[in-house]
This record gives sequence, C-alpha cells and structure tokens, in this order.
Amino acid sequence: MSLTNFSAAGGVPAGIPATKITMPTLTEMKRQLKPISALTAYDYATARLVDETGIDMILVGDSLAMVVMGHENTLAITVDEMLHHTRAVRRAVRRALVVADMPFGSYHGSVAEGVANAIRFVKEAGAEAVKIEGPRVELVAALTEAEIPVVAHLGLTPQSVHRMGGYRVQARTADAAKQLKADAMALAEAGAGAVVLEGVPREAAAAITAELPVPTIGIGAGPECDGQILVFHDLVNLSFSPAAKFVRRYADAAGLFRSAIEHYREDVEHRAFPSDAESYHLQKQPLAVNS
Ligand code: KIV
Repeated sequence: MSLTNFSAAGGVPAGIPATKITMPTLTEMKRQLKPISALTAYDYATARLVDETGIDMILVGDSLAMVVMGHENTLAITVDEMLHHTRAVRRAVRRALVVADMPFGSYHGSVAEGVANAIRFVKEAGAEAVKIEGPRVELVAALTEAEIPVVAHLGLTPQSVHRMGGYRVQARTADAAKQLKADAMALAEAGAGAVVLEGVPREAAAAITAELPVPTIGIGAGPECDGQILVFHDLVNLSFSPAAKFVRRYADAAGLFRSAIEHYREDVEHRAFPSDAESYHLQKQPLAVNS
C-alpha cells in the first residue's frame, strides 16, 4: 500500500500519523485492530477542524438535508446540493478519506444512472469514495468496476424512512440479523471497501464485524464495529432535536454560540462594541518642515 506523506496546514495531533487515509488504509486498520474514527462534515470550517483533529474518515452525509438545510428527512437533498457541500469539504481536508453520500433518487433508477452520478462526485467534487444505502450488490460491483471506492450502508437506512415506517432499529430477529450479515458479505464480495451499520443490535454488528473482510463503521451498532461514525451536529449539540440513544454529546455548541451571540447583541445595544481599539483612524499628517 502506498501512503502519501503530507503536511497538514493545521497539523494533526501528536501520535496521529500525518499520512493520507485511503480506502485501503481502512482495511489495513481493521487488520491491525486499530479503531477507525469517522464523522460527518458539510462545510469548509468544520471539515478543517475535523480533519486537523485526526479523524480518519469524513462523510459528507445526506444528513445535511436535516441538520444544515432544516428538512424533515434526508429525501429532498439533490445531487447538485451534495456536490456543492462536497466541494467545500474537499477544499478543507488534507488527511481524512473524503466520502460523499449519494442522495435519494441518484442511484435508485438504474445502475447506469448510479454510476454516472457517482462519477460526478469524484470528478466534479473530489470525493474519494461514495456511500450508498441498501444491499445494492449490482451497483457496488459496477462502481468498483468504474474505479470508484464504495462505502455501503445497511440496517437503519434513512433514505428508506417511508418503507421502514419511521426510523426504527433493524435486524432485531435472528432471521433478519442473518439476512443483514448475508447482505454485508455480498456487498464486500462485490467490492465495497467498508460497510456502515446503522441502528442494528450490537450482537448482529459484532458477528458481521468478525467475519467481514472489510471494516464495519457503526452508528448505533455497538462497540465491536471496526469504527464509529456520528453526525457532527449531534456530537456538538447543534442538531436541535433530542439525541438518539447512541449519540454522545461531547460539547454544547448551541449553548456556546447562543451566549456569544447574546453577548454581542448586548454590546451593540449598549454601544460597548466596537471599542476605539477596534476602529480605524485617519492617517496622521506628516509635520511640515517649517512648522
Ligand atoms: O448521512 C449521514 O450522516 C449518514 C451517517 C450518519 C452514517 O449516513
């Protein structure tokens, strides 16, 4: 495997190798039992922070439909909107693997349409892999044939919200867990480089992780997965919705931002902002020779 050395503008924390993460790196990490960290990002500023802290994989998730655009679910986001955000993330990221989520409708019609849209994410936005939901083995094989790395996504797939009748934990019976495992194996066989397992029982995810040749990345799938992913806005409390059971809030960005904005508004209202030091002044005139 060739690992390109680079020097990130902001650097990466001590102990994290400053080498570019690629899809084969993730498989190598699984082999070495090194947990894979993954997080979503949708814009330049957050993608830079996420990358500079040494997160291995950044997903430009279609969750942006909800947490950035305020939609009720992920279904409305378009290919053009996803491309726009992927480009912003791409400009920020030096180290992490950049994965773009294929939005609902961009690969559901035909395999040819899915491949054509995936090529746009690589060519026009600089994605290094695409993520697709569901056991679409034929599409994964065609994308692999087209040299596009794929992250598959099984279990609670949010684009299936209407079919599932809501966001419900999947594969809770022995038969359903068996089918989930068969789907994961078939996707890996077809060329998927990693499989996101969302909202499935810990035991089912552990059994898949133990046998799958490629990494599992869990979200609400327990600690045995090869890696974990969360939505950035959930992690920092900016998603304006009650946290799901699997979310751990690591910061209160909403509280922090709210208090900064309130403080600014009060300062403006009391003419405490800007100060003289925050103002520009006329240039001093040079003294006349005879004065
Ligand atoms: O869109 C998204 O953010 C996702 C992850 C949470 C897996 O699909």
